[in-house]
Amino acid sequence: MVIKLLKPYGELGIYAMKTIKLNGIAFKLGAFLIVFVMVLIFCIEIILYSLFIRFYTDDVIDEQIMRSDSYASVLNDHFNESTIGHIIRIENATDNMLIILDKTKKIIGQTQGIDKLNVDDLKDVLSHDTKSHGPVLASDWKNESYFITQAPVTSGGNIIGQIIMFSPTKPIQTAVQTLRTTFVGVTIIIILLGIFTTLFVTGKIVHPLLNMIRLTNRISEGKHDIKLDTQGSDEIAQLASSINRMSTNIQFFKQQRNQFLADISHELRTPITYMKGYSEILLNGLAQSEQEQQQYLKILFNQSVHLQRLVQDLFDLASLEQKSFSLTFNRLSLDKIILNALNLMEIPIKQNEVILTYTPSAVPLFVNGDERRLQQVIINLLENAKSYTAPGGTISILVYKENESGYIKVNDSGVGIPQEEIPLIWERLYRVDKSRSRASGGAGLGLAICKEIIELHQGHIEVESILGVGTTFQISLPLLIKETTQNVK
Ligand SMILES: Nc1ncnc2c1ncn2[C@@H]1O[C@H](COP(=O)(O)OP(=O)(O)OP(=O)(O)O)[C@@H](O)[C@H]1O
Ligand SMILES: [Mg+2]
Repeated sequence: MVIKLLKPYGELGIYAMKTIKLNGIAFKLGAFLIVFVMVLIFCIEIILYSLFIRFYTDDVIDEQIMRSDSYASVLNDHFNESTIGHIIRIENATDNMLIILDKTKKIIGQTQGIDKLNVDDLKDVLSHDTKSHGPVLASDWKNESYFITQAPVTSGGNIIGQIIMFSPTKPIQTAVQTLRTTFVGVTIIIILLGIFTTLFVTGKIVHPLLNMIRLTNRISEGKHDIKLDTQGSDEIAQLASSINRMSTNIQFFKQQRNQFLADISHELRTPITYMKGYSEILLNGLAQSEQEQQQYLKILFNQSVHLQRLVQDLFDLASLEQKSFSLTFNRLSLDKIILNALNLMEIPIKQNEVILTYTPSAVPLFVNGDERRLQQVIINLLENAKSYTAPGGTISILVYKENESGYIKVNDSGVGIPQEEIPLIWERLYRVDKSRSRASGGAGLGLAICKEIIELHQGHIEVESILGVGTTFQISLPLLIKETTQNVK
């Protein structure tokens, strides 16, 4: 099968744009990012704006008050034309304007430019009450053209005149305008950055996610022709390799299941073919003699027994694997299990001219187990040993204790198992030599059942084998410690 590799990251730009959906993660992430940053920028802008205006206007007005006050204090001592002339000259050199009034509010000195002022405005300014009014006459930089301050000129506690100073609000208006333009510029840049980030995020995260959705959809349709590219070491790459692994595993399990079904059909077909053939012969009255008829009936019986055992084994295995197998746990002696199994197997083994030895444990060993099932395990191992050991060979059983476990070893001097096939003998329907096993009637289910039963008892089953020398199966089961110690005493 040609496996197509999906690029993990889509190209930025047009492709990313296409993959953005209004309810998609990219849009939500992008919108959140933009709104969040915008709110942040807006708050910063408002704070900066108000701070700027406050400091700027305070600075200008304070400076203006200070100048007016210092002129007033000079005029306090020298309220004459020459001092007024000096002050006017000094102020003419600045952007500010100044009016000096006498106590009747008549203008007795003024800088250049005052005559350009709106007459009504000037009247308003002059009409204020000098005594009760503070130093600031106008500070509205937005609507007025000037900041206006006043300082009284006094002599002996009486007001003899007044200085009114004007400084233009134009510079602050221009500065505020520049500030606003800058803020708008920054906001536009932030929005563009947000859009770019959204596209970037789409390319880096959303596109690989879409690929994963595509792939998992294909897997659910039973197609495994696409794999994700797993370059990189970030979480996206890790997720991609997990999905690839999952796809491979599903594929493997599917193949295994198909293989299993094929093997089962094959196993069932053989006895059914026999039964069909011989029953046809009998039905058509083709048996030559009564002896032949008996022989055919015996074959029919043996095949139905074989079929029954096969179906029972398959059923057992299925329930064992689904953990729906009910076990009845009791306190059991390991040696008793062996003796019961030997009761059934001793004669057939000896009939094969195989020497059978059994070494019980030094002290009685007790486990918590299902007697019938553990016995089934030992019978299975003994049946295997019998089937694969030639006459003159030996089968020995050893029971012993090590640490907190009870051990059962079943050793034979039989044909052995090739090293590379040892891990496979636990699999359902696996047989090392198909033809030889079929002669012995085995379907390759026994060891798979043994392993499941032992594992349900929290035990382990292992095998060591040398081809042509022999095989040893070793079972270990957790011992009932208290009971064992009592028995030792
Ligand atoms: N003692 C042994 N010596 C040599 N080969 C063995 C031995 N025990 C098992 N095997 C190999 O392992 C395979 C699997 O054993 P298992 O008991 O699962 O199946 P079986 O004996 O063929 O059939 P079943 O037990 O279902 O009747 C056997 O077919 C055989 O090839
Ligand atoms: Mg077997």
